[in-house]
Amino acid sequence: MTQPRVLLIVSGGIAAYKSLELVRLLRKRGIAVRAVLTAAAEKFVTPLSLGVLTEDHVYGDMFDLKEEREIGHIQLSRQADLVVVAPATADILAKMAAGIADDLATTLLLATDKPVLAVPAMNVRMWHHAATQRNLAQLREDGVHIMEPDSGEMACGEYGRGRLPEPEQIAAEIARLIALPSPTDPLTGQPDFEGPELPLTGRHVLITAGPTHEPIDPVRYIANRSSGKQGFAIAAAAARAGARVTLVAGPVNLPTPQGVERMNVETAREMMAAVEAALPADAAIMVAAVADWRTADAAGQKIKKDGSGKPAPLSLVENPDILATLGKHRQRPTLLVGFAAETEKVADHARAKLAKKSADWIVANDVSGAPGASVMGGDANSVHIVTADGIESWENLPKDVVATRLIEKVAHALSARPD
Ligand code: C5P
Repeated sequence: MTQPRVLLIVSGGIAAYKSLELVRLLRKRGIAVRAVLTAAAEKFVTPLSLGVLTEDHVYGDMFDLKEEREIGHIQLSRQADLVVVAPATADILAKMAAGIADDLATTLLLATDKPVLAVPAMNVRMWHHAATQRNLAQLREDGVHIMEPDSGEMACGEYGRGRLPEPEQIAAEIARLIALPSPTDPLTGQPDFEGPELPLTGRHVLITAGPTHEPIDPVRYIANRSSGKQGFAIAAAAARAGARVTLVAGPVNLPTPQGVERMNVETAREMMAAVEAALPADAAIMVAAVADWRTADAAGQKIKKDGSGKPAPLSLVENPDILATLGKHRQRPTLLVGFAAETEKVADHARAKLAKKSADWIVANDVSGAPGASVMGGDANSVHIVTADGIESWENLPKDVVATRLIEKVAHALSARPD
């Protein structure tokens, strides 16, 4: 599975310097970026700084013969999953709307067959000018995604709408657009995501996410570094695909995705009970990092140290294994998917887990990175999906892309099985 790729066209406005931060954030999300600078943009950011951040050649002049021999402009416009114009000046928007192709950037925009996102940034009066608004309406009609600029103080001292959105917001929008298949079928022009034909319509998908907290005493607990991001992204993708979704969530600070029914739990035993109460389900995807052990008896009062230097009076007992319990359950979901966080021999351990837990698939990820810099809590993930048929690897993808692809695979598997 290849890395998602963005062709970033930087046009010449004062906000061009923010494209450097945007590239950094996209790379962090596992997205490869190739940059093109307009002649005016080169006055604001240098090809050198963009080249260092993209780790790629930065393109600028259409008539550079060497570049044209190595990679023609048509090819350049097609070797990406998404073309992004950020910042998009009033000038480049006007050219795009009119179909003008008088430099490399505008030629690529006319030649591309990929979705295009434009992120406008300009002076407030230029933004509100009838010509700009007319061009934006035309571009929307042509299928170009347009991000609304922010309001605020401008570099020119005026105040109003026209500021480039924060790079974090642009990166999130790019990740969202890459995760979603094209919203209309290019052959029929019909929307892909509406109506009764969604791939999981009528299916119940049960998902666990986040860590569990196992109390030691009224103020302390055993926990782990799971953020819940991957499980929540899968719940969101399942809902978008039309499923009825039950999300059993451990203690995390994340908003409930649209269309998802959420049950909040703290401990592994509460999670087990909520999962059983939610059965039957067509598919269960157990993403939670369930604590393997809990304290034998949580103390009623705060445990005090006695200064003797003796080990803490803690004894741990095993928690129920929710995935393994579902594997043998009389209401076993048709498709049972486990996750496995591993720090070594990822595939071997995942294969063993598949058998031990009677699951259909194990999605294994390598969490061996340094705490904080690793998969847990981060936005990107590399996964290996181990099934009876073999292993499929998806390298370095944003968690929402992993989620969408996994849900597509779930829908495909369920459609091949009887209800
Ligand atoms: O054995 P391990 O914890 O690595 O297995 C991970 C998989 O098992 C995950 O899908 C996790 O949600 C599930 N699990 C569970 N209950 C436990 C421990 C793990 O459902 N007590």
